[in-house]
Amino acid sequence: MTKYWKLKPIRPDDGHQEIFQVQSSNEAIIEKAATLLKNGQTVAFPTETVYGLGADAGDTNAVKLIFEAKGRPSDNPLIVHIADTAQLKGIIRNEAITPDIQALMKAFWPGPLTIVLPVETGGISPLVTAGLPTVGVRIPDHPVALSLLRAVNRPIAGPSANRSGKPSPTLASHVREDLDGLIGGVLDGGQSGVGLESTVIQCQNNEIFILRPGGVTAEQMHQILPNAHIHQPQQEALPSFEAPISPGTKYTHYAPKGLMQLIVGNSHKQVVAWIQKDIDAAKKRGETTGVLTFEEYHTLYQADMVISCGKLSEPETIAKSLYSALRSFDEAKITYILAESCSKEGIGLAIMNRLSRASGHRIIHI
Ligand code: TXA
Ligand code: MG
Repeated sequence: MTKYWKLKPIRPDDGHQEIFQVQSSNEAIIEKAATLLKNGQTVAFPTETVYGLGADAGDTNAVKLIFEAKGRPSDNPLIVHIADTAQLKGIIRNEAITPDIQALMKAFWPGPLTIVLPVETGGISPLVTAGLPTVGVRIPDHPVALSLLRAVNRPIAGPSANRSGKPSPTLASHVREDLDGLIGGVLDGGQSGVGLESTVIQCQNNEIFILRPGGVTAEQMHQILPNAHIHQPQQEALPSFEAPISPGTKYTHYAPKGLMQLIVGNSHKQVVAWIQKDIDAAKKRGETTGVLTFEEYHTLYQADMVISCGKLSEPETIAKSLYSALRSFDEAKITYILAESCSKEGIGLAIMNRLSRASGHRIIHI
């Protein structure tokens, strides 16, 4: 049976935001979750990106439980969460931390940046790295995740806490939907932060490869390392060497059960008209229809379900509610979905990456 622990939030005076500081009443709960992890069980926990499914990265049997619960292909490596840089010792090779990497860690840790580095042999279970010579590591910026990591005092392997292929969970209820009965416990710390996963990067000399766009943007990294060449994911031909790849990006992901297509156009008026016409035709075919749009436009559509996943003028709001929106199409048994696109600037690159993958790369340029 899966154990559920609800942590107590501190509500600031305005009552709008919940802050899950770890107070004494929460400490006992964190201790229980840490004990489960130390005993080789799996525990889902909130981070500033999405909920993660943790297990002791050094315990092969525990890591196996993650792959089984998620139904995750064994060739897709897990990222490792640590509480502080001291824990890098024994996980990655010391000489791997170049001044550039050190600068990135200093600027973005704790935070949504996963850095892929050469793994130290024997430091963590080979299942974590799926046999690769590298491991992705990050320090999460969430009080509950950090307290849990400190209490366990071990590196924790932590993929997103969803069944493989489904959108990542941004609420404990999403974890329950996917993994109830399959994992040891869930720490409910309310809604996760960014809403999309961390940015995964690998560095070689003066080059930074974004393997998966996410919470830290290319623009932010450029500010820290203005001389580095930042490669966007799989967009550029690389003359001198093979670009590193992230095994996870080859799998279908985030997809709702209904058929989803992403619509890209120059004029918004044209996009709205095209989508509405195509939705009307789908209704006639007997489809249950859905439109994924933004707050600025959601009153313009007529479909069985019209969801606004945030404001185009504030893309962080889109990142935050995108996965919840994708899940609600399934709840309403929508069979045909058209999604609007947004700009690829800043966090928009990660949003468009997830929209493209959720639609199985069915992108219609009108
Ligand atoms: O925000 C996040 O990163 C969340 C929270 C829980 O921390 N975790 C997460 O983990 O999204 P996961 O396993 O769902 O995604 C990790 C991604 C996958 O695409 C995987 O292929 C890639 O990172 N990855 C992990 N280790 C790698 C490595 N050594 N080389 C290349 N890619 C790697
Ligand atoms: Mg995932």
